[in-house]
Amino acid sequence: MLTDEQVLELRSHFPILREKTYLYSCSQGALSDAVEGGMAEYAQSWRTSSAPWEEWMEAYEALRAAFAGFINARPDEVALVASASAGINPIANALCFNGRDKVVMSEYEFPTMGHIWLAQRPRGARVEFLEGVENTVPIESYRQAIDERTRVVPLTHVSFINGFRSDVAAITRLAHDCGALVFLDGYQDCGTRPLDVRELGVDFFVTGTLKYLLGPPGLAFLYVRRELVESLTPTITSWMAQRDVFAFRTRHLEPAAEARRFEGGTPAIPNIYMARPAIELLMRAGMDNVAAQIERLARAFREGARERGIATKTPPSSVGPLVVVRSRDAPAVVARLAARGIVVSARHDGVRFSFHVYNTMEDVHTALTALEENRDLMVRA
Ligand SMILES: Cc1ncc(COP(=O)(O)O)c(C=O)c1O
Repeated sequence: MLTDEQVLELRSHFPILREKTYLYSCSQGALSDAVEGGMAEYAQSWRTSSAPWEEWMEAYEALRAAFAGFINARPDEVALVASASAGINPIANALCFNGRDKVVMSEYEFPTMGHIWLAQRPRGARVEFLEGVENTVPIESYRQAIDERTRVVPLTHVSFINGFRSDVAAITRLAHDCGALVFLDGYQDCGTRPLDVRELGVDFFVTGTLKYLLGPPGLAFLYVRRELVESLTPTITSWMAQRDVFAFRTRHLEPAAEARRFEGGTPAIPNIYMARPAIELLMRAGMDNVAAQIERLARAFREGARERGIATKTPPSSVGPLVVVRSRDAPAVVARLAARGIVVSARHDGVRFSFHVYNTMEDVHTALTALEENRDLMVRA
């Protein structure tokens, strides 16, 4: 657990925290001086290097290795892509749906998960959505839906809409027992706690840098379990996905033997320069410490909302980072809080309060006081 002094020191690296109560990491993480340093380093290399692409390809491979270490994967299991969608698409596109045509996912997945797998219907996929029950998805629903016709189970680690946390281990066991694959979307969790894809046992994992990884938009990571990499040949491909990138053989298609085979074209180098220091900053804080701080704040906020009689969408078992309260007019609440320097976001009837290691108990109290003052717009518990 970090001491108050350590949290204060960490906060000093995020200029916006001097001005705002920043509870917005589920949409965009705060900008640190470390990430600004990454931007400056990129500009410097572009301005001065006689062979910038050599440097930039080194930075790109270094980030792949750093992220692989962050999730306990191997570098050859990680692809750098432009967005989570750009990571999910080549996998959806490489899977076949004959024999096993079912795709089972809950209604709390991020929309892009629905859209990408629904787009596979002309290729034979049948998508079955599981209904949520009071902002949770009972494990029983997965048990009933997953069968020997199931190809893949896309699974959100934490739902963007209500903060519900999936039981990844249990659902993965159910899927694997039936021979189905699991595609974990970690976007709303990655960067908030230690993560071990091997221990979770999932087949695919995707996340992007812009939220809890505290980096820029325009960069995401796809993990593909080593045994699956070469069995999947996407028709969405690029020259950078080839075995020998710099052979420049237009007539010859030979996908890389590594997860790089799922990548698009020229990588977003500026984003790579910004993402690396962000991940290093988190690792220096220690992911166990990050998780402990987030859990403490999320629990206190949830409890505070309960005491004030404000309805919460997030189930008590979800220990952050996202806590969603129910409102009659969520965009109006966001606007009123913004006027007081509190940065939050709205989805449907929910106002999203998201906690990161740089937040404090004072932030929790500021947010709860603001909710109390806007009681007229909140749904009573
Ligand atoms: C759970 C989840 N998945 C995916 C995304 C984004 O997907 P993409 O990177 O394709 O825009 C988000 C957020 O915007 C998200 O919350």
